[in-house]
Amino acid sequence: MSDKTHLEKPYKNILVSETENPIGLKTGLIQINRPEVLNALNNELMQELVNALEAFDRDIETGCMVITGNQKAFAAGADIKEMADAGSIEMLVRDQFARWDRIRKLKKPVIAAVSGFALGGGCELAMSCDMIIAAESAKFGQPEINLGVIPGAGGTQRLTKAIGKAKTMEMILTGRMYTSKEMFDAGLVTKVVDNDVYLEEALELAGEISSKPTIAVQLAKECVLKSFDSTIESGLEFERKNFYLLFSTEDKFEGMKAFVEKRKPEWKGK
Ligand code: HXC
Repeated sequence: MSDKTHLEKPYKNILVSETENPIGLKTGLIQINRPEVLNALNNELMQELVNALEAFDRDIETGCMVITGNQKAFAAGADIKEMADAGSIEMLVRDQFARWDRIRKLKKPVIAAVSGFALGGGCELAMSCDMIIAAESAKFGQPEINLGVIPGAGGTQRLTKAIGKAKTMEMILTGRMYTSKEMFDAGLVTKVVDNDVYLEEALELAGEISSKPTIAVQLAKECVLKSFDSTIESGLEFERKNFYLLFSTEDKFEGMKAFVEKRKPEWKGK
């Protein structure tokens, strides 16, 4: 179903649009837009962000999503002012992480286009995406330790899986900031690019993915993510079942036939 109402919603904290790609499906673009507080992620913003992501995920005209901020900040973390007076039970009742679980369940690939600060929840949001394109100026960090807490949206887990224990411990226990080059070398960032082209590069990558057969893209994403919480045995089993499943798609027959006939495939997304 292609329902565009999410593009017209009166969001207060994000800007939502879609871009056409040279071939294939469109890219859904979400820009975090609270520049006065370096895009601090308050609950209302997270609700809007997740609603927009899910709407793009449902839209058959969308192939991929990109989340970005502005030159100065992707997001400087969860909104500290919103949490400053909260106790444990209030945080438990707020259950803000239920929204983050919904990001993890998205079927289509999501790319973070990061410039400036990606700290705390901002770094965790970038890590919740499937790939990170970072401007040279980007600064990554998990400074929660300096507030008397620890990462709460997956930082201790996702960082460890992505860059290993040694660097994760240093990041989380010191709260230091790291350059995009350091995070690229560590394996967190897909590509580091000049400051003025980070969004363009992310959109280009999204466009390339949006030109691929949709069901194969989604199942590939699911299989890669599965590797985070499965043994090699069950992960291989999961991959194999999904590989077999793709042999029921029209795109599989078209893709292989086009190769044999030496022509470009025409994907149907079915
Ligand atoms: C609320 C924030 C904020 C945040 C910045 N601001 N970060 N407000 N929550 N996370 C606000 C400031 O209060 C200030 O508002 C304005 O944005 C500009 O920030 P400055 O500090 O003046 O800018 P600068 O001197 O350039 O310093 C940039 C900075 C610093 C180094 C990024 O702002 C900073 O340390 N921010 C907090 C980073 C952080 O600790 N993040 C983790 C949060 S905890 P005013 O009104 O004064 O102009 C977290 C837990 C995750 O994320 C849990 C899961 C979601």
